[in-house]
Amino acid sequence: MFKKIILAAALMVGALAYGFRPQPQLGNDKYQYPHHINIAWESAPATSQSVNWRTHELQKESFVEYLEATASPFFADQVQRIRAESDAHPADDGVWNYHSVNITGLQPNTLYSYRVGNGNFWSEWSEFRTASGDPEETFSFLYFGDVQRDIFSLGSRTIRQAVLAQPDAKFLLFGGDLVHRGGLNKENWNEFFPTGGWIFQNYPMLSTPGNHEHLNAKSGIDMSEHWYYNFTFPRNGPEGHEEETFYVDYNNIRVISLNLNRYRYPEDRAAILAWTEERLKEFKGDWVFITHHHAMDASARNRKPGIRFPEFKALYEKYQVPLVLTGHEHLYARGRIDHPSPMYVVSVAGPFQNAIQFGDWIERAGTSLQLYQEIEVSPEAVHYVAKTVVGEVYDEFTISRDAGGDLQYTVHPDLHAESLLPPASFEERYDAELVESWDADLKNYLSKKSTDK
Ligand SMILES: [Fe+2]
Ligand SMILES: [Fe+2]
Repeated sequence: MFKKIILAAALMVGALAYGFRPQPQLGNDKYQYPHHINIAWESAPATSQSVNWRTHELQKESFVEYLEATASPFFADQVQRIRAESDAHPADDGVWNYHSVNITGLQPNTLYSYRVGNGNFWSEWSEFRTASGDPEETFSFLYFGDVQRDIFSLGSRTIRQAVLAQPDAKFLLFGGDLVHRGGLNKENWNEFFPTGGWIFQNYPMLSTPGNHEHLNAKSGIDMSEHWYYNFTFPRNGPEGHEEETFYVDYNNIRVISLNLNRYRYPEDRAAILAWTEERLKEFKGDWVFITHHHAMDASARNRKPGIRFPEFKALYEKYQVPLVLTGHEHLYARGRIDHPSPMYVVSVAGPFQNAIQFGDWIERAGTSLQLYQEIEVSPEAVHYVAKTVVGEVYDEFTISRDAGGDLQYTVHPDLHAESLLPPASFEERYDAELVESWDADLKNYLSKKSTDK
């Protein structure tokens, strides 16, 4: 969905900032076909499906056609059509028309076929299944930390392997930093979408924004307009935070995305905090999953340690949030921070890796690994498995509740040794002091672990 208020300014600024280049010429059919197609949710997963795509600027009008899926290919007379909301967007690789539709009024647990396009230029037909809405159903979803760099070359394999390992996953959840420069298509969104390919057309995806989806990755302000053009996420966040801070209820779970890149601005922080508390207080389902991009405690070796969002940490503890899924550190770290809950997870899907800073809170760590998470949910339990890109189980635990309703975490007893070797570039990228203290820190971490056992 597009943020109308930013449109006029963004059209100018976008063209100037990125050095406008001529669009592909008429006759270049490839670009007239819809591409960067992805499905997500703006509203209830049992009865709706949002669809986004882009076309060449010449394709000003575009449509979604859909129907309840049939085995027969002779379904032309059953197709319904919705005209997309469409907007031109000048970017570093040309002017594109971005299109979005939120299909509503669908039946729960039903397979639909859809395609997007117009005239002679249509996507292939793809399928999606609406949520059952049944709170008793056991299902799973997939989580991915930062993809960000070498997206096509190396990030892609994590997404493919995750879906091959868990083809029944109901949706994909990303922890932000999908790309390195959120304001650029070249080497960024133009790699991210082909990376997902047909997967993004068949599996709904949700994401919280990373700092790299902002024009200034360091400031956490100025979200790139590509975010709103590329995706259609819920608009149920605090006013002015739509499609950044939002929640989706899928059967018995609530997934909450918080754009805590805005945390440093007191008004934004207060608005997100108050909104989050309301969402936690009102929720009557079984499990809440919160995702925000930055980890609660910095765990990359070259970052200043400390709790980043103390008010949110207190809120998660008060409402017994079971699991918080984050990224940004470019490594794996998992544990609880001075409190029985929540379990914090920091993960990374792409190839860029950092060396670990062994914070006291870390129960399991890893680096020089591409990872994804399979999270299976039932009314009784959450079964969390972190797998490497080659399918090995790297971490595993179960969350349940005791008779009093308190959260219980059971970590798999036979996890193999952690991959703690720093990335190949460690010595060039880090200050000498951080490199020299590595051996002693590692030794302390391992000895503390063996004492804890
Ligand atoms: Fe990142
Ligand atoms: Fe980041």
